[in-house]
Amino acid sequence: MPPESAATSPPLPPPRNPSGPYRVCCVCLGNICRSPMAEVVLRAQLAAAGLQDRVIVDSAGTGDWHVGDPMNAPARRQLERRGYDGAAHRARQFDASWLAERDLFLAMDNSNLANLRALARQDDAAPDTMRRIRLFGEVAGLDGADVPDPWGGSPADFARVLTMLETGMARIVSQLRDVVGAAATER
Ligand code: 4NP
Repeated sequence: MPPESAATSPPLPPPRNPSGPYRVCCVCLGNICRSPMAEVVLRAQLAAAGLQDRVIVDSAGTGDWHVGDPMNAPARRQLERRGYDGAAHRARQFDASWLAERDLFLAMDNSNLANLRALARQDDAAPDTMRRIRLFGEVAGLDGADVPDPWGGSPADFARVLTMLETGMARIVSQLRDVVGAAATER
């Protein structure tokens, strides 16, 4: 089956709590490269769209190797080159308890997606939670592309990841605007 295009991608899941902020968690393996870059880019784009109070973003890795570490230096450097600040980040491991506490999980690649789904199955998560676990490249209209793991790669690899994130998050922010706008009218 071909990957879903932006046109056929299902809409973002509705907020669990229509009167609270919408919560997005970006997820990769180590939480030192892709998902913290995604978090920083999404937060900046939400602020530019005036949605910073309506949508809350965080990130985590499914692995525990880097818990407490700052963002990988080449990832931070690429962010800084384009005007973002990744200095405050400290890596965290995804905890299954978060499955019930976020509205949307954006997996950076298909392996992260499979890891998250496996955690949700172990946790006996509700079908509603499963629907909230999505592939970034699918939601972002990037033909279901993986965000490639840049760890140990060249500056150009990190720059490519950042470009994918900036392009894809712009599309996700426009969907988030719809989903939090719809929640506001339900209040
Ligand atoms: P990330 O990159 O998942 O984008 O943070 C990685 C960082 C560390 C490792 C793998 C990927 N690692 O195996 O330690």
